[in-house]
Amino acid sequence: MSTAPVLELAGLERHFAGAGGTVRAADGVTLTVGRGEVVGLVGESGSGKSTVGRCAVRLDEPTGGTVRINGTDVTTLSRRALRPLRKDFHLVFQDPSSSLDPRMTVGEIVAEPLRLHGIAKNKEAAHARVRELLAQVGLRPEHADRHPHELSGGQRQRISIARALSVDPDLLVADEPTSALDVSVQASVLNLLADLQRDRGFGCLFITHDLAAVEYLADRIAVMYLGQIVEQAPTRELFADPKHPYTQALLSAAPVPDPVTQRTRERIVLSGELPSPLAPPPGCRFHTRCPLAVDRCRTEVPALRTLDGGREVSCHLVADDGTAPDAASRTIPNTRTATR
Ligand SMILES: Nc1ncnc2c1ncn2[C@@H]1O[C@H](COP(=O)(O)OP(=O)(O)O)[C@@H](O)[C@H]1O
Ligand SMILES: [Mg+2]
Repeated sequence: MSTAPVLELAGLERHFAGAGGTVRAADGVTLTVGRGEVVGLVGESGSGKSTVGRCAVRLDEPTGGTVRINGTDVTTLSRRALRPLRKDFHLVFQDPSSSLDPRMTVGEIVAEPLRLHGIAKNKEAAHARVRELLAQVGLRPEHADRHPHELSGGQRQRISIARALSVDPDLLVADEPTSALDVSVQASVLNLLADLQRDRGFGCLFITHDLAAVEYLADRIAVMYLGQIVEQAPTRELFADPKHPYTQALLSAAPVPDPVTQRTRERIVLSGELPSPLAPPPGCRFHTRCPLAVDRCRTEVPALRTLDGGREVSCHLVADDGTAPDAASRTIPNTRTATR
């Protein structure tokens, strides 16, 4: 078994050229998922998370940078050369209805990767494996004969997970795996993912805008803004002490109590919409919405720097020793108590 990280993105770029200009959906993303590690990728809708996820499993073609899986550069491998490697990485989509073939039975859907990769020796072995997988995701053997439309959204997502894990991949990319589901079943699907990850030990890039979910599942979190990573830190450190003003704003929008003080954070309301990735603002891309921006932020691009202690952040206002300004102190100057 390789000892390389399961996923290494280096300077990953995905630009979409169109009539209106070039959309810089992913613009230099460097990110590693170690063996058995869960890395959360968070950020507002439109920040480029799905683009990164799709490029990571080569469902989309990067326009720059490299993608390595288990140490192998897969950035420009042909479909054919990629095929034998495909068993090592899988994507679970947001909407299971669109990713499951409606004409196939559940049994066929779950067995398909086993067949494609020649893993089950014969029909009986495939059958047995499907039953085992269904049980692992909390479904009954008779579900194998049903079609996706006969099942609930939560059950369909369990099937996507069973299918993705059928060949024991080293890397699972889960793109908002619960956000299309009823709120009432989201927690059970998240718990299932967490249990399976612990048992099987696959590495996972967990894409979400659900901060409670990412705090629960991820060992480490990368925060994306307009196609770039602006902060990266172990989960506990990020939630306890977000450094980037964008991360501070993002976390303040979720009613998650501070793990140390048990106080909920002061809400930071960002002004304006996410700017268009067609024309990212010059300097720091966040400066147009940052309550703390100074002149330098409008002209000079901040590098993603490693701080003392190993966290990464791209903000001119954060010192190398980690001293960071508090965005909340600027937005709501007269209400210093927790508001929610
Ligand atoms: N195929 C495409 N063609 C053109 N633009 C795209 C395409 N896919 C995504 N984008 C654009 O790239 C940006 C990032 O999208 P996406 O990766 O889906 O973000 P997220 O998953 O964080 O919501 C958005 O502005 C989106 O409109
Ligand atoms: Mg998305």
